[in-house]
Amino acid sequence: MRSILVVFCVWICFSVDASTPNADCSKIPEVENAEVSQSSRKDNYTDGDKLEYNCKPGYASPLKITYNCTDNKWTKLRGGNCSLKRCELPEDIPNGRYTIVSGSAFVFGTTIKYICNDDYQMMSRFDTRTCQEGGWDNQLPACEEISCVADSTEENVRVEGLPENDGLIRYGHRLTFSCSDYGWILQGPKEITCQSNGQWSGPFPKCVGATCPLNTAVGDLKMERFPDIEGPVKPRHKLIFSCNTEGLKLKGQREITCQSNGEWNSPFPKCEEVMCVAKLTVSMRSDRHPVPEVSVRPGHTITLSCVGRGVKLQGHSKITCLSDGQWGNPFPKCIGGKCGPPPKVNFADTTEITKKEYDSGEKVEYSCFNKYTLVQRHPYSKYLTCEHGEWRGNIKCLKPCSVTVEKMDERGIQLRWRGREKIFSPHRDRIIFSCKSGKSSTGIDLTQTCNDGEMTLPLCV
Ligand SMILES: *[C@@H]1O[C@H](CO)[C@@H](O)[C@H](O)[C@H]1NC(C)=O
Ligand SMILES: *[C@@H]1O[C@H](CO)[C@@H](O)[C@H](O)[C@H]1NC(C)=O
Ligand SMILES: *[C@@H]1O[C@H](CO)[C@@H](O)[C@H](O)[C@H]1NC(C)=O
Repeated sequence: MRSILVVFCVWICFSVDASTPNADCSKIPEVENAEVSQSSRKDNYTDGDKLEYNCKPGYASPLKITYNCTDNKWTKLRGGNCSLKRCELPEDIPNGRYTIVSGSAFVFGTTIKYICNDDYQMMSRFDTRTCQEGGWDNQLPACEEISCVADSTEENVRVEGLPENDGLIRYGHRLTFSCSDYGWILQGPKEITCQSNGQWSGPFPKCVGATCPLNTAVGDLKMERFPDIEGPVKPRHKLIFSCNTEGLKLKGQREITCQSNGEWNSPFPKCEEVMCVAKLTVSMRSDRHPVPEVSVRPGHTITLSCVGRGVKLQGHSKITCLSDGQWGNPFPKCIGGKCGPPPKVNFADTTEITKKEYDSGEKVEYSCFNKYTLVQRHPYSKYLTCEHGEWRGNIKCLKPCSVTVEKMDERGIQLRWRGREKIFSPHRDRIIFSCKSGKSSTGIDLTQTCNDGEMTLPLCV
């Protein structure tokens, strides 16, 4: 068995040796980032043959890499490694700088981008440069100070803010426009600003002749134009109105004028049914209407009366509405009247001992309970007034907020400056909380304000 193997090996080894005498030189060395040049490729290599390598695109070696076939082995004659080609240090530009956007400084394939300083803008089509075989591609970009160019405007447009002597219009510069003639209005923005991209914030406006809109659907309203001409209504033109149906009355202005801004000086009037209207005072009642207003058609009569202790009617109690919308007699009044003790108000007391009876015009002052806050803004005040038998006025006390220690513990908070302590603070008081040590806020503001007894408590976990 062993002898058979030996024989087999001898045969195989010899036959390989015999068929490829230069076995080692047939194996071409691999060189990183390089390829064997076309001219040194051969089928078989013998002693003394040379192999030349070319670096791949973007790579370079100081000497051409060459191998020599010596004693059936490739040995390096000269040349180093193929490393990425380098470009020169990129040039700086005035008012700008560059950064590397890909690759590393500054080898083949690296791309840099030029950025302009604040208030400067890129003027070149390309703002990047890439390191190529032959150096940096693209032209060196240029940055220029950001400025806007003013459009020309028509003569009737007044422009304010243009720099003198055609100076540069820089970022942030503002122009304002107006029309120089009466009856012309600006079409477009009144004001534009030079933006950071060198563009104006809006278009340059024009001045166009102002016209007032003419509403056509007027119904019972009769309208006459002055001057009486067709076409758009120009500034200073007028409209005169009347109602063309009996029993209707004009409500609003009889005459309106078109203004230089293209708007009417007052809205169009309306034709309304003629009615007698009156407001009822607190102690006055009508036989036909609920408070607080009566409105009746011409020819109708209403009866008025007064309510409240000691309140008397002054004038005629029955009055009739006339065809022109006026009352046949002066509208009556309710006078006199006494009030009883002032009413109880939530969270407030009167400042003085109260009486059993008050005359019309007498006031009673209230003050809120401790820590409650009196609202003094209309329609609230600190007084109630007796008016012809009724107490009038509004009093409001806003509630304080109270937060217990337990409640704060539950939410993981404490008072920023006082630690663990119950709070009882009036409306609008600002309370600053802090998280208990080791806890952090869930995002609810740690400063909170009391609002009529309510306050959002922060939460720390
Ligand atoms: C290369 O070597 C082989 C085997 O030794 C041989 O048959 C062939 O003719 C050789 N070719 C050249 C071009 O010398
Ligand atoms: C290349 O190899 C041949 C054969 O071994 C040898 O004679 C020659 O001197 C070598 N050339 C160089 C430059 O080493
Ligand atoms: C060439 O590359 C080889 C392997 O990567 C390294 O050992 C050698 O130092 C390099 N030589 C030079 C000159 O860079």
